[in-house]
Formats: sequence, C-alpha cells, structure tokens
Amino acid sequence: MANLRASCISFLLCFTTCINLISSHYLPENHVALFIFGDSLFDPGNNNYINTTADFRANFYPYGETFFKCPTGRFSDGRLIPDFIAQFAGLPIIPTYLQPGKRKFTDGVNFASGGAGALVESHQGFVVDLETQIKYFNKVEKSLRQELGDAGAKKLMSKAVYLISIGGNDYFTKNSSVSDEEFVSMVLGNLTVALKEIYKKGGRKFGFPNLLPLGCLPYMKAQSGGSCIDELTAIAKLHSAELLKTLVKLQNQLEGFKYAYYNLYQSFTERLNNPSKYGNSENGLLLLHERFK
Ligand SMILES: *[C@@H]1O[C@H](CO)[C@@H](O)[C@H](O)[C@H]1NC(C)=O
Ligand SMILES: *[C@@H]1O[C@H](CO)[C@@H](O)[C@H](O)[C@H]1NC(C)=O
Ligand SMILES: *[C@@H]1O[C@H](CO)[C@@H](O)[C@H](O)[C@H]1NC(C)=O
Repeated sequence: MANLRASCISFLLCFTTCINLISSHYLPENHVALFIFGDSLFDPGNNNYINTTADFRANFYPYGETFFKCPTGRFSDGRLIPDFIAQFAGLPIIPTYLQPGKRKFTDGVNFASGGAGALVESHQGFVVDLETQIKYFNKVEKSLRQELGDAGAKKLMSKAVYLISIGGNDYFTKNSSVSDEEFVSMVLGNLTVALKEIYKKGGRKFGFPNLLPLGCLPYMKAQSGGSCIDELTAIAKLHSAELLKTLVKLQNQLEGFKYAYYNLYQSFTERLNNPSKYGNSENGLLLLHERFK
C-alpha cells in the first residue's frame, strides 16, 4: 500500500508539475483549454477540499485503483470522461480547482463537485453547486486576464471547450410538490443562467452528456428491492429532451453558440445490459460509478 501510494503521488505530481515546467506562457495557435463543470461524473476530487461527508467523497479504495493507483477523489476506478477528452485533445490532466497550491489555468480547470445540482438546494451544504462553480470560473477568468491580458484571455475563453454534466442530483433530491415539467424547467432555467454567464466571458463551444437512466442505476435499484424506479428515469428522460430543446434555442439566440449533445443514456444502458461485451465482469460498470453522486 505504501509503495502504491508513493507511485501514485509521483505520478500525480508529474502530471501537474512536469507539465508546468514543459509549457511556458507561450500558447500555441491551436491551443484549446477545457473547462469542466458539474457533478460526480466529472468531479476529479474537488470534494476532498470542502467540508462534506464521506458520502460525497471518493477518496478511498477501490476508487482510483486502476489508472491513478490511488483514490484521487474521482468516482471511478480509473479515469473520467473529461480525462479521456483531455488526453485526446493533447492536454494534460486538467487541474482540480480546489486543490491547494499553485495552479495553472491555461489548459483549463475542473470545477465539478460530486453531488452537485443546478439548483442550490440540491445537497446544499455538502457540495459546490453550479452557481458557485460559475463564481469560481469568473475568478479564473479574472486571473487569466491578468496573466494573458484582456485579448489573450478572451481568445483562450472563446476557443475553449466547456463540458457540463448536471441535473441528476436535482432529480435525486426532488422533494418539492411542483410538477415534473415545472421542476425540469427550473433546473434548465438555472443551467441556462450558468451558460449565459460563460458565454458572456467568451465561451462558445459547449458539450453535454444527457442524463443516465437514473431509476435503473444499481444503487437506486438496490434501494427499491431490485426493480427500477420508473418515475425517476422518466424525469431524467424529460430533462434530456428539454435540454436538447434549450440548446437549440440558445444556438438561435446567442451568436456563435455551439454545442455537442452526447447520448450517455444510450451508451450507459448498452453497457449496463451487456457488461461482458465491454470488458466488465458482473457489475464492473458499477466500479466505474458505484454510487451516482
Ligand atoms: C463542517 O461541518 C460540520 C457538520 O456540519 C460542522 O460541525 C463543522 O463545524 C464544519 N467545519 C468547518 C471547518 O466548517
Ligand atoms: C427539500 O427538503 C429539504 C428539507 O425539508 C429542504 O431544505 C430543501 O430546500 C428541499 N429541496 C427543494 C428542491 O425544495
Ligand atoms: C433557479 O432555481 C431556483 C431554485 O433554486 C428557482 O427558484 C429559480 O426560479 C430558478 N431560476 C430559473 C431562471 O429558472
């Protein structure tokens, strides 16, 4: 365990420090930063640095055992979707916003927090909600302007890609008596406010996964004696359909706004139903995301 820990730490240090040493203030013309927001699907360990409970953390084994060789705070045994996207984009692992120490923001930064929703009420007091993530983003934008100048920062912000995974926790914690339709429009209303804030700072390229079949996640099924909670999956589907409409609307409203909408629902369901086809034994997928938070 001690050796595992040591190699893990040097590995992580290399990802952050070595990259810092290699790259200077010079940004190549095709440099694209990655800014990441959302919940546990994207959280690289921000919750390690807030006052929360173990339920909202993934800083223990078996999390982290395959790729990083130690629990980084990712709700996964290996890497998360944004880690792969960063790799394919030729970027280093994107820094965790709340991790203490000198941070470099020119490759982007990850603000996601396990358990977070678009609504402030969702797991309030235990997570960094979307509005607060946007506040942190605004601070980063300010510091990039100091580093690169207004024009340099604007260029970086407008070429950057913004990945956002949000909504699941709002539906997990929905306890208000408003209709599903009204609740979804509240969630998407708050997401829209966040998107417009990013747009105002220059953000143009956005990527979203839709919501998972929330009621069929093994964790939820276990709570309901093995069967899916159909109402929960229904509201997730409603959210996803309305999210797509919202994005089309924003594209018509905001000049230059572009989005990618990824059908995670479908690919997740496919893996859930055929784990062995994807190299997962039994409930392998579950290691990937034991508890949706
Ligand atoms: C963290 O939260 C606990 C429980 O809510 C509280 O008792 C404690 O004072 C908090 N600590 C800090 C540093 O805010
Ligand atoms: C759900 O209930 C809790 C406790 O009663 C409350 O604090 C919270 O604001 C409610 N959430 C929503 C979304 O209304
Ligand atoms: C954002 O969410 C709050 C509840 O947290 C709600 O009262 C408000 O109407 C929502 N805003 C929008 C623009 O939908």
